[in-house]
Amino acid sequence: MLDLINVAYDTQIPNNVGLSTDKRVLKALERWHPGYINWWNDLIPEKFQKSLIYLRTAVSVDPKGWAKFDYVKMPEYRWGVLLAPQVEDRIIPCGEHYGKPAWQEVPGEYRSMLRRLIVIQGDTEPASVEQQRHLGKTAPSLYDMRNLFQVNVEEGRHLWAMVYLLQKYFGADGREEADDLLRRQSGSEEAPRMLGAFNEVTPDWLSFFMFTYFTDRDGKMQLESLAQSGFDPLSRTCRFMLTEEAHHMFVGETGVGRIVERTCQAMNDAGITDPYDIEKIRALGVIDLPTIQKKLNLHYTLSLDLFGQEVSTNAANAFNAGIKGRYMETKIEDDHQLHNDTYPVSQLVDGNIEVVDSPALSAINMRLRDDYTRDAAGGVGRWNRVIAKAGIEFELSLPHEGFHRQIGVFTGAPVTPEGRVIAKDEWDARRGEWLPTGADGDFIQSLMIPVSEPGKFAGWIAPPRVGIDNKPGDFEYVQLYMA
Ligand SMILES: [Fe+2]
Ligand SMILES: [Fe+2]
Repeated sequence: MLDLINVAYDTQIPNNVGLSTDKRVLKALERWHPGYINWWNDLIPEKFQKSLIYLRTAVSVDPKGWAKFDYVKMPEYRWGVLLAPQVEDRIIPCGEHYGKPAWQEVPGEYRSMLRRLIVIQGDTEPASVEQQRHLGKTAPSLYDMRNLFQVNVEEGRHLWAMVYLLQKYFGADGREEADDLLRRQSGSEEAPRMLGAFNEVTPDWLSFFMFTYFTDRDGKMQLESLAQSGFDPLSRTCRFMLTEEAHHMFVGETGVGRIVERTCQAMNDAGITDPYDIEKIRALGVIDLPTIQKKLNLHYTLSLDLFGQEVSTNAANAFNAGIKGRYMETKIEDDHQLHNDTYPVSQLVDGNIEVVDSPALSAINMRLRDDYTRDAAGGVGRWNRVIAKAGIEFELSLPHEGFHRQIGVFTGAPVTPEGRVIAKDEWDARRGEWLPTGADGDFIQSLMIPVSEPGKFAGWIAPPRVGIDNKPGDFEYVQLYMA
């Protein structure tokens, strides 16, 4: 009998989808595999490919205890195809087919819409690994290096997850799309990744933590909405990915939190009370809080752009088709069709920001983005508690939705982080107060000196409170390969 909880290792590709008896798909995946390994090997520096990393690997899809930890060389990591268990009698949770049994096969009329959504999601997964490819060389500790590589191998697995769906359900064009996912490259001129934020570089570790906090959280929200899909294999795939995603955001939240903590500590030790005394603070070898705010502004706004147009017919169509739901769709108490509902959307009218009630059906992206903002605010509150506890007067905050936008109603609008519309010249002149400048980047870069002694941390970041897998503070998370 097919075991749908535990992962089978009887084929080259670990899975809980019965690949050993699904020869057609197994063959397609085996054909795709060498290209994937080449992609991985080209990305990660050789030294780390040969190092032993203390990684978790999925052994089951049971939410309690799905992973086991062990030392692994990354190219030998067992990237697998894992779907959350099928929910019996699951229904299509929204749209015009609401209440009908969830689809187990691709509904013909929505084939291209589904394929597009899977490809867009799939494209982000390898892109983030590409963006983070150089960070191993400057890791502030072995603990952080291990976390980086854990995130990387799991983003690789997420690519596998989407490629499986393409090859299993979309025939020849699915196979072509799967190949293209390895052809596009983050930041490439000829074949860039599909979404803007995934073509930006991740030049330093503060950027990495901000990325995993803000941009992986966009990923989480997209997966949450796809987990509500009426196309059941997609829903099950995304549900399991979400269990992995939680660790990525943990890495981001605790990473930023540890930087904030270290800065406050260094300020207190030196008797500096003014958080804007930037030169003196930087001389301590820590990142000043205003610069952390600027990085937050950048990564948060790039991530808001990933939600697309606030009012969108594509989003309305996907919801109406039952292909994508709202965050926690099944928990919402309404008709799940939204024919007569409205949702507030901000507009820029004659230079003023006004909130207008829009048809809820076309404001699906906006609603998901609002859920995202609420979710993202939690960690910011926790960072602020660290600052308050240290007795420093400073508060980090999420900028206004109109600030620094490149997609949607506020595209290019000169809105301050507080949400004031100002003259374009003034905005341009003050840009460096709100967003990281070249000099800020250079300063952060100057701190990126690797630390690879077990239990030691770079001076700009505090050690974590607890280890991964409850390991002690001096645990050797990475056994570095020495050439
Ligand atoms: Fe992912
Ligand atoms: Fe992620």
